[in-house]
Amino acid sequence: MKFGFMGAGTVAQTLAKHLLLHGHEVILSNSRGPETLSDLISSLGAGAKSGTPSEAAEQDFVILCVTWAQMPAALSMVPDWTGRVLIDATNRFENTEHLFGEWSGKNSSKIVAQYAPDAHVIKAFNSVPMEWIKDYTEEKPKTVLFMSGDDIQVKKS
Ligand SMILES: NC(=O)c1ccc[n+]([C@@H]2O[C@H](COP(=O)([O-])OP(=O)(O)OC[C@H]3O[C@@H](n4cnc5c(N)ncnc54)[C@H](OP(=O)(O)O)[C@@H]3O)[C@@H](O)[C@H]2O)c1
Repeated sequence: MKFGFMGAGTVAQTLAKHLLLHGHEVILSNSRGPETLSDLISSLGAGAKSGTPSEAAEQDFVILCVTWAQMPAALSMVPDWTGRVLIDATNRFENTEHLFGEWSGKNSSKIVAQYAPDAHVIKAFNSVPMEWIKDYTEEKPKTVLFMSGDDIQVKKS
């Protein structure tokens, strides 16, 4: 499978390493352009590429791993979210209520969905500190992963 990351920080790097170990391909992106990620991509090795947020969003699964305040700008970089599977790993930590107007009383994934119209939004990974899953060996402990979302078929995939 191909996974696109909106973000190239702690979450993107940690999850990308696990996915690469299982034979998947990953594209990481940031706000500064693919060329700024060349050292990171080299260190991740075969199967990893950098791209624009739009290119990341074209993959089988898209993982949103920017900070909450960066979320609106990141999602707005993709012109068409229709039918894409968007896995939301963000946490609504920052006080950004003033940005969301009538949406400020909604749960965070509903706000994310507003910025990714017609995407299938699944919330996952947000409650797992990346420090807990930085063991990439075959002996690594199993981790429970909670996910939530309205689309049962997409959650099963
Ligand atoms: N760290 C954890 O253990 C952990 C665990 C679970 C969930 N989370 C949540 O996951 C999210 C990401 O956390 P993190 O620790 O990975 O943050 P981080 O290390 O600060 O990474 C954020 C990444 O987003 C990129 N970015 C910023 N604006 C962007 C845009 N417009 N388009 C694409 N990429 C953009 C940043 O790169 P540039 O600034 O260079 O553009 C950076 O690579 C947060 O919401 C956090 O609450 C974190």
